[in-house]
Amino acid sequence: MDTGLVAGQMHIDGDELRSKYLKFFAERGHAVIPSASVIPENDPSVLFTTAGMHPLVPYLMGKAHPAGARLVDVQKCVRTNDIEEVGDSTHLTFFEMLGNWSLGDYFKEESITWSWEFLTSAEWLGIPKERIAVSCFAGGLGVERDEVSYQVWRKLGVPDERIAFLGIDDNWWATGDEGPCGPDTEIFYDTVGQPCKNGPACKPGCDCKRWVEIWNNVFMAYSRQAGQVLDLPKRNVDTGMGLERTLAVLSGVETVYETSSFRPIVEALIAKSKYTEAEIRATPDLLRALRVVSDHLRTSVFIIGDERGTAPSNQGAGYVLRRLIRRAIRFCDTLGIPAEAWVATHQVVIGLFANAYPELRQNAERIAHELGVEHARFDQALKTGIRLLSKDIEDLKAAGSAVLSGESAFKLYDTYGFPIEFTVELVAEQGFSVDMEGYERRFAEHREASKTEAAKSGLADLSDESVRYHTATHLLHAALRNILGPHVFQKGSNITQERMRFDFSHPAPMSKEEVAAVEAWVQKAIDAKLPVTSESMSLNEAQNSGAIGLFSDKYDSQVSVYKIGDLSMELCGGPHVANTMEIGKFKIAKEQSSSAGVRRIRAVIS
Ligand code: ALA
Repeated sequence: MDTGLVAGQMHIDGDELRSKYLKFFAERGHAVIPSASVIPENDPSVLFTTAGMHPLVPYLMGKAHPAGARLVDVQKCVRTNDIEEVGDSTHLTFFEMLGNWSLGDYFKEESITWSWEFLTSAEWLGIPKERIAVSCFAGGLGVERDEVSYQVWRKLGVPDERIAFLGIDDNWWATGDEGPCGPDTEIFYDTVGQPCKNGPACKPGCDCKRWVEIWNNVFMAYSRQAGQVLDLPKRNVDTGMGLERTLAVLSGVETVYETSSFRPIVEALIAKSKYTEAEIRATPDLLRALRVVSDHLRTSVFIIGDERGTAPSNQGAGYVLRRLIRRAIRFCDTLGIPAEAWVATHQVVIGLFANAYPELRQNAERIAHELGVEHARFDQALKTGIRLLSKDIEDLKAAGSAVLSGESAFKLYDTYGFPIEFTVELVAEQGFSVDMEGYERRFAEHREASKTEAAKSGLADLSDESVRYHTATHLLHAALRNILGPHVFQKGSNITQERMRFDFSHPAPMSKEEVAAVEAWVQKAIDAKLPVTSESMSLNEAQNSGAIGLFSDKYDSQVSVYKIGDLSMELCGGPHVANTMEIGKFKIAKEQSSSAGVRRIRAVIS
């Protein structure tokens, strides 16, 4: 956003803007509700909370909210659908949305009047009235043109030349194909102060850089079901104001990255870069990289540090997180920022937001751990993977092709942990593309093969969580043999993403002390950051080398043996983590009898 002429040069930071907003609406009868988790609790259809209304969908659909019919909050939101756009001046993957709701209470007139008062009154934000323009719904989907909103804006003194009527694409808001929706009126800040070459047609909706949307008031009176727009039992209001953009407007800075919500993070990262701020600003690629690493760090900290925080993995929200971390680390390289320094800067993010979101401080250790582990994993993969990719690209050049094969892209994913989007971006930089169809095909084959492999090793699936548990069973096996004695042998195991069950031969219940000692033994091995390695050998060699395991004819004569430091050596088909530190905290939840002479341990890792 290029703010050119700047109207308000307010000294305001995120904490102040949040509290002003909440206070304004609390004084007007709204109950202040806390931000919901950024990982939705009851909605498996989406990975992240993308708007303030999202956790409120049941109430917008008609259910009574325990806090009443007027609500206000600041919601943590993550939107990663346009992750590739991050690096320009406005796109962010994490942002805060200020929002107020009427659940069948007030409607257009109050909503618009309050927005106007909050934005323009000297007591609140004091944005000059002549800097504001709006858009109203032009009609469509069987819903009429929004004359009511138009009249309210006119009554407040907004002139016709600052009111645009726009259609479905601009002024109809819905989260998806189904669910609550409605026409909206959007509020824009005029960053330039005069029309572009389009003259009087330069209103909101004009594609020049003059207009920045800061607030959206949705009149959610409808629900879309099976393509039909139906009336909801109540007419609701759902508003959303972007905190970062509004801060940029108020402080008269050109981009969200220069607001107080970013500046400390950006400065800390520049301090670690091999370039100066002036050099970075003078080089578009460096500036883009700086924005990416700042944005992605904030987002990663909020995802891991959430009440329902998740760890990097190969699926769902965890996979998005992995992409964010890995993408950031790659851009750190462009800036000459050591990845460790990027990881350490999470502390600046926590410091900046802990007041509004105390969970970040409570989960500080987890944030540091997950970022560190993912960095270590990726570091290794990156080195090898990039080498491999460069070679592939050389081969392509020699062959006069511009398309990387699906097989090569899959190998980068499978062996080196390169998210596919990442490979696509890397090769695009050199003018190449990826055979996506080939990649998808290979991926599908792999998934089938993995299912079979997982079934063989007692894993419910091959998720990162299950793999961590799998390595933990080897440590547990070794711990039991060390503490209880060499009579202990694994009798079975069952692993899911949430827990492990391990059955072993032992004649009596374990004492509390024994359980504690086994737990401590395993934890010590985890904390020792031991490498996990595998080797293929003949069954004979394996037996002679002292490996433990089920030496039955179930194994082929050539077997694979997994070693964890020199603490454990077991016949096993894998898969395992690369280093024990990836396991995290190990806890025995229960020790009980399984069958005669066999005990069962349930354990969890976190
Ligand atoms: N739900 C509306 C938005 O996200 C307010 O823009």
